[in-house]
Amino acid sequence: MTNQELIARHQSALVGNYGKQPAVLIRGEGSHLWDADGKEYLDLFAGFGGTILGHAHPALVAAVTRQAQALWCVGNQFYSEPQIRLAERLKRLAFDGRAFFCHSGAEANEAAIKLARISAGEGRFKIISMHKGFHGRTLGALSATPTPEYQKGFYPLTPGFIHVPYSDLAALEAAIDDETAGVIVEPIQGEGGINMPDDGYLKGVRALCDQHNLTLIFDEVWTGCGRTGKYFGQQHYGVTPDVMTLGKALGGGMPTGCMFARPEKAAFFKPGTHGCTLGGNPVCAAVSAAVLETLENDKLHDRAARLGTIVVGRIKGFKNAATKIKQIRGKGLFLGVELAAADGAPVVQAALARGLIVNATQKNVLRIAPALTIDEPTLSKALDILEQAIDAA
Ligand SMILES: Cc1ncc(COP(=O)(O)O)c(C=O)c1O
Repeated sequence: MTNQELIARHQSALVGNYGKQPAVLIRGEGSHLWDADGKEYLDLFAGFGGTILGHAHPALVAAVTRQAQALWCVGNQFYSEPQIRLAERLKRLAFDGRAFFCHSGAEANEAAIKLARISAGEGRFKIISMHKGFHGRTLGALSATPTPEYQKGFYPLTPGFIHVPYSDLAALEAAIDDETAGVIVEPIQGEGGINMPDDGYLKGVRALCDQHNLTLIFDEVWTGCGRTGKYFGQQHYGVTPDVMTLGKALGGGMPTGCMFARPEKAAFFKPGTHGCTLGGNPVCAAVSAAVLETLENDKLHDRAARLGTIVVGRIKGFKNAATKIKQIRGKGLFLGVELAAADGAPVVQAALARGLIVNATQKNVLRIAPALTIDEPTLSKALDILEQAIDAA
């Protein structure tokens, strides 16, 4: 079937809640994708960061195959070995925490918000989040995501969410009161436009949380798992949160989320406090464990740092960079290219027409976040196309 035929079927059978590109992707290998008409694409966005090792990575194919032949879902009233392996790997790469597994970044944040509230005690329930932050679409996570176009139509949201500007310690301090339970912040904002924290900001947030006995939640759904050039974004800033949330890359493309909390916080979740039927199911957990094992063994975080420097250098050298590009920001392979033009959609379309997948957020910030495994010739070719697309748009 062709793109057109499949799109027509999609439109009469699925909810139209996503802005769609006119391609039905049917096969992927590394950072190459093919649609139903046989057109090839190079992928600089990795499925919103999910396919951090690209498509059909041999280690993940082996992990899913092995586990699918051994054991599928067991209820969480039983122990299962892949969860243990995955949680232990997180402890080694992040900090001494305890893992709760779910399916998505939003659910991980829901768990973190609940943990912040239950650990704060009676009368303390407020969660402070940041302007332009993004934490997911479920009602609690959405309440922490103060973007009017995402919230509109869903009021009333969960009460008790306060929003302050990102990277503004004075505003954060002013917002804390006796009812505050916690703070949720992305180490680098993703959806908000790849916004970097000022020097000392995250350390300052940590200090305020310590001073007022608040739960500090780092939403590392985008910045986790090697993307920024360290295992976790927090490691650039030398700050350890009380709770870290993960999603996207942790599953390598499978639906996996995790709330990872310091033991003294995690202890507030007792049997029955929170749960997720399929969270940490053996197949997803085995794939996630293989993602982290590959990341560590192949030092893909270092690779992200090295390739990120190459990408920034190449983009700065685009022949029309001075007039077409306002700023490049980010770390590793988590980069935002702010265009001089107010709208990035024409660049995204021009790129797609030429067989390149990129994304624009905040209207005019192109996000470059390929698989950390992207080979250098593919990356180079993708950047050639990006240059042409920016020129053409
Ligand atoms: C920082 C951040 N947190 C949470 C989420 C929500 O993740 P999910 O779509 O898996 O629910 C996202 C999604 O883009 C995100 O960027």
